[in-house]
Amino acid sequence: MKLPRRNLLHLAAATAAIPALARIARAQAYPTRPITLIVPFAAGGPTDTYARLVARHMGNVLEQSIIIENVGGAGGTTGAIRAMRAKNDGYTILMGHVGTHAYSVALVPNLAYKPDLDFEPVGLVIETPSILVARRDFPAKDLKELISYVKANAAKLNLGHAGVGSISYTNGLWFSALLGVRPAFVPFTGTAPAATALLAGQIDFMSGSISDFGPHIQSGAIKAYATASAERSHVFPDIPTTREAGLPEFQTAPWWALFAPKGTPQPIVDKLSAALDESLDDETVRKRFAELGTDGLHREKRGQQALATLVKSEIARWTPIIKAANIKGE
Ligand code: MLT
Repeated sequence: MKLPRRNLLHLAAATAAIPALARIARAQAYPTRPITLIVPFAAGGPTDTYARLVARHMGNVLEQSIIIENVGGAGGTTGAIRAMRAKNDGYTILMGHVGTHAYSVALVPNLAYKPDLDFEPVGLVIETPSILVARRDFPAKDLKELISYVKANAAKLNLGHAGVGSISYTNGLWFSALLGVRPAFVPFTGTAPAATALLAGQIDFMSGSISDFGPHIQSGAIKAYATASAERSHVFPDIPTTREAGLPEFQTAPWWALFAPKGTPQPIVDKLSAALDESLDDETVRKRFAELGTDGLHREKRGQQALATLVKSEIARWTPIIKAANIKGE
């Protein structure tokens, strides 16, 4: 049988539309199986803690489990690359942070991804103050003494961090640059193993998210010198800020956020974004964030567009700071 040319054209158009329709149907049904959330650092650190907290609640909202996969290494960029290259179907997402999505641009030579172009922003999760800490027997009682001691003894001191590009690395380099010294930098796959080394006295000092060290500060197992924030922490009101304690330039409020691979269908990104938003309003999530030393996220900072804007502005803000401080990746 010979079909008229017009019918053949209609048939061809309908056939071409099938993959697009299937994609829409899949996006509407999403999620039909567990989602993997890549955490680009070791278990037990802030990235892992925040990821597990929101993943549990987002999983309830989406009625699917969200499985955490810790892919540590290279200051978070190994996990970020894995997520960037994953299938963009919503079943692999990433917990990134200011390190993977802003510092790394200036710190990591030939970074394999463009943080602002190669991901779909899902939403900001949390911002936290950084804190400066040292082993319990570190011979300095306050920040001024710490500064003098580090200046005088830098060559024999070890500073812990979570890899080039991480928050703790950048904090450590910035702090050292402000003091004009260069202690030995000791890398770990996350700040949790770095904190364990600090507890054991294998490293001397470091700076990371306040939630890394809370119980150890409370028990006196490590010494805390200052929070690198404008205001004192509500969890540690006795710890001064860097402004109060004598190093006002050292101010940093790291953030964490969810990203999906570029090209993830918009309805899927919307579902993830809405589930994240609901999680951030959940009372148990808010309470836990508060216990960890962080405040909830204001509404205007939430959502995909706010995160897209933040990533661009943070790259623009940190690239010159890192270059001016002569902070380089190794
Ligand atoms: C960092 O320093 O970038 C993070 O604290 C790493 C981590 O979450 O372990």
